[in-house]
Amino acid sequence: MQKNKSLVLGITGGIAAYKAAELVRLLIKSNISVQVVMTESATKFITPMTMQALSGKPVYVGMWDSTIDNGMPHIELSREADAILIAPASAEFVAKLLHGRADDLLSTLCLARDCPLLVAPAMNKQMWENPATQRNFEQLKADNIAVLGPGNGEQACGETGDGRMLEAEELLAHIKAHFTPKILTGKKILITAGATLEMIDPVRGITNLSSGKMGYALAQTAANMGAEVTLVSGVSHLSAPMNVNTQYASSASAMYAKVMENIQSQDIFIGVAAVADYAPNEIANQKIKKSADSLTINLKRNPDILADVANLPSPPFCVGFAAESENVIEYATQKRTAKKLPLIVANEVTSAMGNDDNQVTLIDDNGNHPLQRASKLNIATEILNHIQRML
Ligand code: PMT
Repeated sequence: MQKNKSLVLGITGGIAAYKAAELVRLLIKSNISVQVVMTESATKFITPMTMQALSGKPVYVGMWDSTIDNGMPHIELSREADAILIAPASAEFVAKLLHGRADDLLSTLCLARDCPLLVAPAMNKQMWENPATQRNFEQLKADNIAVLGPGNGEQACGETGDGRMLEAEELLAHIKAHFTPKILTGKKILITAGATLEMIDPVRGITNLSSGKMGYALAQTAANMGAEVTLVSGVSHLSAPMNVNTQYASSASAMYAKVMENIQSQDIFIGVAAVADYAPNEIANQKIKKSADSLTINLKRNPDILADVANLPSPPFCVGFAAESENVIEYATQKRTAKKLPLIVANEVTSAMGNDDNQVTLIDDNGNHPLQRASKLNIATEILNHIQRML
């Protein structure tokens, strides 16, 4: 995602206004600058002072604010904005938006905008299901206004159903996706991620320390860039990325089967999973008992998913990862040649596995391109930009 995007966050009256505080914190952490505008009703649920402290900017509520130089806050506040997000958006505010009414600062600002508008509804289940509300939201979508959610679950009124505002993390993911240039629209990408687990007996297995963070970051970023993404995940505790077809396969052979099942018609394949090279010859049916002083487990070679995909008659654009603990560039270069890959991403395995950041070198026909250490999300963006340029 490009840096320094700027968002107007409109808060309307609803108990979900408390989630807007966390959202501002997350947006700022993601380098998105936030200008908060609240309705009078919103101030009954959360104070402008809280939002000011979190956003680092004065919060606007009324139409007649003399601190704005030209006296036109409804024009001035959205002038620099890349988007406006209303979260929470109450049923009343949405009805107002729909009719182009402008009787307070936030509704006037929405009417006068020339940037995209996104709304995150938050209301009681009956209000959400009411045909009037449903009609209003249908019309909003027809007017090209993005509707984020609502979620389903327990509500402040004690009922359970549709109408909850999405969580702050989910809204942040939507905003990041919205701001990401759609450079991979029309591309189909298959990505493997996480660790494999090779069972020895029903309760024990051989695995590794891959968390899935690098592969999931690539999957999320590729989807944000407009690609149709399938993620084949081994063992990982991460939640499935948004707008990604996520399938699970824990052993190397199950991952191999899932990849081959989905590989037809893919434009790009990226092997990020830490796939076990060997698996036990046999999986014991019962838990192996402790008896002898030592135990030998015979292992057999697993299939190499990446090599076999690259060897298909008309392979997708194949990208490998090389996780090395020494001679990183040399070994990665050898792997790229052996597996006939246009691109391989070399990383030092002990500092890459499990961490939130990574330092990688991209190796292609034009040589080595070292990237600075950065978060795995930023590294993912750079790798996908590089792939797009190579394509
Ligand atoms: O998951 P994280 O905690 O974020 O950590 C990220 C990572 C370190 C796992 C990742 O950045 C990485 O380097 N992944 C590749 C790990 C690996 O198994 O590397 P390798 O050098 O053993 O394999 C080379 C390539 O062949 C890899 O693309 C691998 O997915 C693929 N492979 C390997 C063996 C096999 N049987 N099938 C394969 O497809």
